[in-house]
Amino acid sequence: GAPRTRTPTGAETGAPATANGQQGAYLTTAQGARLRDTDHSLKAGPRGPVLLQDHHLREKITHFDHERIPERVVHARGAGAHGVFTAYGTAEAVTRAGFLKKGRETDVFVRFSTVLGSRGSADTVRDTRGFATKFYTDEGTFDLVGNNMPVFFIQDAIKFPDIIHAAKPHPDREIPQAQSAHDTFWDFVSLHTEAQHHTIWNMSDRGIPRSYRTMEGFGVHTFRLVNEAGETVLVKFHWKPKLGVHSLTWEEAQMLSGMDPDFHRRDLYDAIEAGAYPEWELGIQVLPDTPEETFADIDLLDPTKIVPEELAEVQPIGKLVLNRTPTNFFAETEQVAFHLGHLPPGIDVTNDPLLQGRLFSYVDTQLTRLGGPNFSQIPINRPHAAVNDMLRDGFHQQAVHAGVAPYRPNSLDGGNPFPAGDDEHAFLDVPVTVAQAPKVRANPASFDDHYSQARLFWLSMSPVEKEHIIRAYTFELGKCYHQAIKERQLQSLANIDPVLCAEVATGLGLPAPQPTEPLADVTPSPALSQVGGEWPSD
Ligand code: HEM
Repeated sequence: GAPRTRTPTGAETGAPATANGQQGAYLTTAQGARLRDTDHSLKAGPRGPVLLQDHHLREKITHFDHERIPERVVHARGAGAHGVFTAYGTAEAVTRAGFLKKGRETDVFVRFSTVLGSRGSADTVRDTRGFATKFYTDEGTFDLVGNNMPVFFIQDAIKFPDIIHAAKPHPDREIPQAQSAHDTFWDFVSLHTEAQHHTIWNMSDRGIPRSYRTMEGFGVHTFRLVNEAGETVLVKFHWKPKLGVHSLTWEEAQMLSGMDPDFHRRDLYDAIEAGAYPEWELGIQVLPDTPEETFADIDLLDPTKIVPEELAEVQPIGKLVLNRTPTNFFAETEQVAFHLGHLPPGIDVTNDPLLQGRLFSYVDTQLTRLGGPNFSQIPINRPHAAVNDMLRDGFHQQAVHAGVAPYRPNSLDGGNPFPAGDDEHAFLDVPVTVAQAPKVRANPASFDDHYSQARLFWLSMSPVEKEHIIRAYTFELGKCYHQAIKERQLQSLANIDPVLCAEVATGLGLPAPQPTEPLADVTPSPALSQVGGEWPSD
């Protein structure tokens, strides 16, 4: 039946239907009274002071005074687009998620972003890029909140405020540091060596994408899928751009930051308006759900690790086409609110400690950023599934809830609606066994390997990519004032690869240290290279 709890249309509440916020041929006040003049304030005579009674002046200025909301604490600068996701049906065996059944089409909204810059910062800085997708599925919204790099700096969300403090502008000078956070950034990543893998991705060409349209996307964490039979697999999500993966050169990126700081945002908008709709394939690496939660000795709960594609193929499960630009940047791109807990039946989380903290952080920050608990009623955030929840009241409540009281079951209100019980469309918390172990503030020992995959990445690069990485480290470390920090970072580079370390050390005019741990014996993964294929060994 029709849901009883929902956001009513304007007609039902008697208010104007504000799909586009404007109605009628005449300018009015916010209360709908027609205005004669909006260009002059009401004065005591043509040369007189402005009258306090000028309610139109006060309404206009007061509203303007409150037009801004806080920018996101991270990923403040972004650009968004609407599109459609079409499922191939190839994931049907591993997940019950209805939107992944063959041929299903689901509306999506994607927001791409930089991480560290403020809302007005340049697009082409060296940084990680956000790649957040909202799938408005008919079984509830699914948010895949990923990045253009498959790993993260830290292994535990409790360190997130620390890495961001190290990378955002100085507290005294407020000098934006972008990726080149220099002393504090390099201090952090050389002291927290689990960050070395993500850092080498940032120093590679992946840190300066050519276009949002030419970026891969990654869910980063391992997720758990559950099928109709209750069987589970572990997966990693990948977005593959139809146009291939392409980057700028450092010189192009720097020039564009000055000449066209809106380069990526403009490119996305212009491409869609021109009908050159950007496309990605969504793929999954399917990994067995074993009690150890490892694959090929890789700990799947460690967000600083990838599973090389040569070991587990990325299987395409659907196609994304972005085909519509936002009508209003604020209403859509600025107010969109993603959350890893937005999961439809068939997709569940794992115990990755970074993921677990993210499950708390997004809603928490949005309570402030979007002004209270009802931001899921903002048009861009409204699910396309019927909503029938027990949440009531609060700032900016749009719904006019009927019924006796939101408790279930009750005997006064017919007891409806009921929870969905065994319904195949109901969300299932996969009953994973939790270890019988003492509480600890610690990570598993398998999280202690900080260098082998940074080395894997380095060894997988083509010569020109290696050259770019060397130059990026040399440039960014060259901005540090503290020699001890440069030396400590060189030590990490020595543990990744002596050639890389020696080249950067030469560029910095410092001696190259010896590795402090044995170099990992790894097999290069050609899929990591943007050039790909075969290249002469050096
Ligand atoms: C925002 C990705 C880790 C807290 C974002 C956005 C993306 C993203 C793409 C922008 C969303 C948008 O466009 O609106 C990631 C990835 C992570 C990660 C891939 C690691 C795998 C974390 C962690 C925390 C965190 C560990 C905190 C514990 C936030 C917050 C925002 C944000 C507070 C702002 C959200 C808002 O204002 O709506 N993240 N993030 N992130 N992230 Fe993360």
